[in-house]
Amino acid sequence: MAVTNLDGEYDLILYGLGVMGENFIRNFARNGYRVIGVNRTVSVTERFAQEVAEEPIADRVGTAETLVEACKHLKSPGGAVLAMVKANDPVNEPWGPNDQLFFSGSQAKYSDTDVRDVPALVELVPEGTVIIDAANSHPRSTKKRCGEFAERGMLFIGTGVSGGSEGALKGPCIMPGGTSEAYDAVGEMLEAAAAQVDGPCCTYIGDNEAGHFVKNVHNGIEYGIMAAISETYHALAALLDYAPEQIHPIFAEWNAGRHGGYLMEISTEICGMTDAETGKPMLDVILDRAGQKGTGKWTSQIAFDLGVPVPTIAAALQARIMSSFKPARVAASEKLQGVALDGFSADAKDRLIEAAGDALYGAMVAAYAQGFWLMSEAMDAEPAENGGDYDFTLELDEIARIWKGGCIIRAKMLDPIREAFQQEPDLHNIMLAPHFSEVINDAGFQKNWRWWVRTMVENGLPADAIGASLNYFDTYRTGRLPANMIQAQRDRFGEHGFERVDKEGKGFHLTPAD
Ligand code: 6PG
Repeated sequence: MAVTNLDGEYDLILYGLGVMGENFIRNFARNGYRVIGVNRTVSVTERFAQEVAEEPIADRVGTAETLVEACKHLKSPGGAVLAMVKANDPVNEPWGPNDQLFFSGSQAKYSDTDVRDVPALVELVPEGTVIIDAANSHPRSTKKRCGEFAERGMLFIGTGVSGGSEGALKGPCIMPGGTSEAYDAVGEMLEAAAAQVDGPCCTYIGDNEAGHFVKNVHNGIEYGIMAAISETYHALAALLDYAPEQIHPIFAEWNAGRHGGYLMEISTEICGMTDAETGKPMLDVILDRAGQKGTGKWTSQIAFDLGVPVPTIAAALQARIMSSFKPARVAASEKLQGVALDGFSADAKDRLIEAAGDALYGAMVAAYAQGFWLMSEAMDAEPAENGGDYDFTLELDEIARIWKGGCIIRAKMLDPIREAFQQEPDLHNIMLAPHFSEVINDAGFQKNWRWWVRTMVENGLPADAIGASLNYFDTYRTGRLPANMIQAQRDRFGEHGFERVDKEGKGFHLTPAD
């Protein structure tokens, strides 16, 4: 079994030869680093070895049957092992395959009947090696692992990597957290492999689980924006009786303007695609049931634990969950009626499209606002306060900068977000930054935003993320919420006490009328 072409010292072992892992190897090698690829299933490594042998980077890439062999060829000190275990089910938590790989021992699969034990990475790596977990790990797992590696006196980085297989090859956005000592040892290599927009789209994010926390928030924002774009496409198609190809130029125009970003761009592309097999629009042959691997759920759970409102993100998650009940929804659609759709004149169509664009922009701003607020709150959380136990400091302007390239939520609006945090690091909500408040406060914009949401609702069209975003804006900007009634209700049935507007203290009670 000749999967090895090892000769001398290597900078990096990359474990996990999924599409992302393979492409990450190509990326590091293209940047001059010597990398060994290893995979649990040995036949995958063999296939990769054959493929890579034909590529210009061949002299910098080795492959090994197991980590045991690979570790013998790792530079010491200063080498690193990057685990890119394919997003699996569940994404690794708790504590899943990475803990086995790192601490208790993994396996090498030669065939269905020949599976051999491999010692834990902590026993194999030469002294001074940095171990990097590049999976979508839960921040809680990363924090635990930081502690375990620190106890062993070993260097560890838990990093978010965003950008899919293309990003891994051409330059992803990399969000590494851990000790600054570990980052100093591998930062240059990670920065070289990252996308480059105003510098490398990789920076030291912070201590402990900071990197995976930020990647989680990234994914929550991703969920929100994806849902808002999808709802907009769906409602425009229904109200205007448009085929996806008619939505394509609308999305293309938005993408060229202030909505511009990767998710808008790929959604535009998708609207223009045709299924080769049936000749139908691609979107029309794709089942309306979306899966999820867990990061949007974790972001929502973390936000609930920290007591931070993330309605756009949570609504997007719930809409995905609802989509998974396909047979139940089809059955319900036969028994529960909506209303007949409004018709729109040619003139009104243009106004409607403009309003849809404004509402989508509002939803995008809301999604980023929620993500950035969540990150500020995590930094401020006292240990264990409200379920939060986060031990890091984040530079929000730098996070906006590195999200400009390589990642899934890269978008034009990250420039003004970055500027807003540069000017005011403690900014509570990006909607307050003049760049955004001027747009949102504009009477024409607001009218459009509200009209589009009302139109969706009046016509019975799903508006989970779009509707939640407008509610978020309205609730956030309301100085006096209906929570006075909630306080009174809680006191009435449970004697929980309430606070008053005119006196200090918490223990006031309703005086029931005689
Ligand atoms: C990225 C993506 C990537 C992946 C997630 C989300 O930043 O490159 O977020 O990490 O798409 O696994 O997947 P789900 O939609 O399945 O949760």
